[in-house]
Amino acid sequence: MKIIKIQSLAILLALLMFNCGGKKEEKEGFTYEKSSSTDKEEVKEDNNVANIVITSNDVMRFNTNEIKVKVGQKVKLTLRHVGKLDINVMGHNIVILKQGVDVTAFSAKAASEKDNKYIPKDTDDTIAHTDLIGGGQVASIEFDAPEAGTYDFICSFPGHSGLMKGKFIVE
Ligand code: CO
Repeated sequence: MKIIKIQSLAILLALLMFNCGGKKEEKEGFTYEKSSSTDKEEVKEDNNVANIVITSNDVMRFNTNEIKVKVGQKVKLTLRHVGKLDINVMGHNIVILKQGVDVTAFSAKAASEKDNKYIPKDTDDTIAHTDLIGGGQVASIEFDAPEAGTYDFICSFPGHSGLMKGKFIVE
């Protein structure tokens, strides 16, 4: 009699779990409604957005010299300055240049634009750029990936583009 009671209790529990839906059933080893629980799993990764995080430091370096995104993606580019030095001493940004723009010539032009955070006013040479930041700060921008190709990116703070540079690749 006791065994029958336990069995019926187990069936009752199984029915309760059945009614609770999806994931719990699978964890408990039940296979009911397996297809519907699979339907509930959502794909969270968004292939339309390239989330890029780059760090920069007090010794004038980015943590990478290559950024890769895909054609048609929206690019969310975040620059973190993990150093401590002030923006006036060790300011950093990321400037992505159009193809054909000379890095040295652009850097020289940018160096004289302190009031404009080292971005030449009304320039047509850039695809996108972050704000200029100092130690401990973060800057983020969003833009549409340009057409497939390889582009130069630099920090346009005076004297930095020699070391702080890399390739922004759209493929
Ligand atoms: Co810099």
